[in-house]
Amino acid sequence: MPSLKIAPSILASDFSRLGDEVRAAEAAGADWIHIDVMDGHFVPNITIGPGIVEAVRRCTNLPLDVHLMIENPDRYVADFAAAGADIIGVHVEACPHLHRSIQMIREAGARTCVVLNPATSPSSVKSILADVDQVLVMTVNPGFGGQKFIRGALPAVSEIRAWANQAGLDIDIEVDGGITPETIGEAASAGANAFVAGTAVFGAENYKAAIDGLRSHAKVD
Ligand code: DX5
Ligand code: ZN
Repeated sequence: MPSLKIAPSILASDFSRLGDEVRAAEAAGADWIHIDVMDGHFVPNITIGPGIVEAVRRCTNLPLDVHLMIENPDRYVADFAAAGADIIGVHVEACPHLHRSIQMIREAGARTCVVLNPATSPSSVKSILADVDQVLVMTVNPGFGGQKFIRGALPAVSEIRAWANQAGLDIDIEVDGGITPETIGEAASAGANAFVAGTAVFGAENYKAAIDGLRSHAKVD
């Protein structure tokens, strides 16, 4: 099982002080910085482009986990990799030629991640598991921070972890959306080892206490 990672999502941070927010998350013990890229087409919201990723890159040495919620992600993979993304995630729902998209990420020098929405069947990623470093299972419908955790997405996590184990694949399985001290344990028990948390970290008074709390509730024996 890969190691436990907490990935604060800057979507919930104060963008007027973005550099300070990223440095504070790193000082508080974050493992990765999660960056939500939205295009107003694949999802109803518009957020961040490669220029902001490049600015975040200059604030931290932590791996940047870039979640592309955009149509035709192939067009932008090289730009995000050049901006400093370490992990690039593309939605299976936005990639009609998924192996090609994953190959483009690898060729750009980033770790590969395939993402699926809560209502998407886990079987849609089964044939790509051997070719990716990471799977991200959404536990909300993407587009906004601060939404309610969708428990019905967890069987997909269990199924994907079981397939990975059967195939001897040590991949990271990440969950994203509505992760709090109350929900993180269930996601961990289902087989997730990486956890995105926006509101639960950047909405807290004390980022270190928030990250420590998430980490302790994510420990499964
Ligand atoms: C949702 C984004 C998430 C979001 C999580 O579309 O992919 O990363 O920032 O925010 P919380 O943790 O507040 O649900
Ligand atoms: Zn995200």
